[in-house]
Amino acid sequence: MQQGIVTLKNVKKIYKTGDSVITALDSTNVSFETNKLTLIMGPSGSGKTTLLSILGFVIYPTAGDVFYKETHVNNLKESYLAQLRLHEIGFVFQQFNLIEPLNALENVMQPLILQGITKKEAIVLASRALEEVGLSTKMKTLPKRLSGGQKQRVAIARALVTNPAMILCDEPTASLDAKSATSIMQELKTLASKNKAVIIVTHDLRLRKYADKVIYVEEGKVSDVINNEQDYK
Ligand SMILES: Nc1ncnc2c1ncn2[C@@H]1O[C@H](COP(=O)(O)OP(=O)(O)O)[C@@H](O)[C@H]1O
Ligand SMILES: [Mg+2]
Repeated sequence: MQQGIVTLKNVKKIYKTGDSVITALDSTNVSFETNKLTLIMGPSGSGKTTLLSILGFVIYPTAGDVFYKETHVNNLKESYLAQLRLHEIGFVFQQFNLIEPLNALENVMQPLILQGITKKEAIVLASRALEEVGLSTKMKTLPKRLSGGQKQRVAIARALVTNPAMILCDEPTASLDAKSATSIMQELKTLASKNKAVIIVTHDLRLRKYADKVIYVEEGKVSDVINNEQDYK
């Protein structure tokens, strides 16, 4: 198997709640690469969000190994994982998760403030990130005055402002109309071409045309991996 930025070897995730035991992921071997836009597709309940949460070091696998670059992630302490998340990963969610009382610029500044960067520097970097997603005229606007597509672009700016190596998205186009979805996918495709690993969980078959690689998940198992090399580069 090709060594990527994140590699899962025989990863299993079991959820135990009360008497029920659910195997959300079973013996998963998969690798994700930089410079690629990778889609994770599959029916509801197949384990997509669980897989994305393991990639983002949000949950630990029950068994198996996770490697990030050269680092074996399994046994790292939570405080170290929190630093990895903050510096190496940008998250984009279906429901945007913007902070309502903060304007677009302040939302994008948040991860920088958490990193301990000065406010002045954070303003410069956050303004630049908003420009990159075409929102330079909306910096002072509150989320409630933005359209769905604009909110998602703020969320993308917030994910990329720390210059992470990996951008993880869970159904980023699900709440958007077709035109906004197209523009978001073009943003994400551009990011992938700038030396990042962009990984997107989706139900939306229309997104396949943007993918360099598609990983299909069924009942907790990777059922197929398609490399779309013609599209790549
Ligand atoms: N925190 C949890 N506790 C218990 N069961 C869970 C939890 N998260 C997910 N599951 C179960 O694991 C399976 C996979 O879920 P998930 O990864 O969310 O799938 P998908 O994102 O493909 O819909 C489902 O059966 C789901 O009900
Ligand atoms: Mg899900």
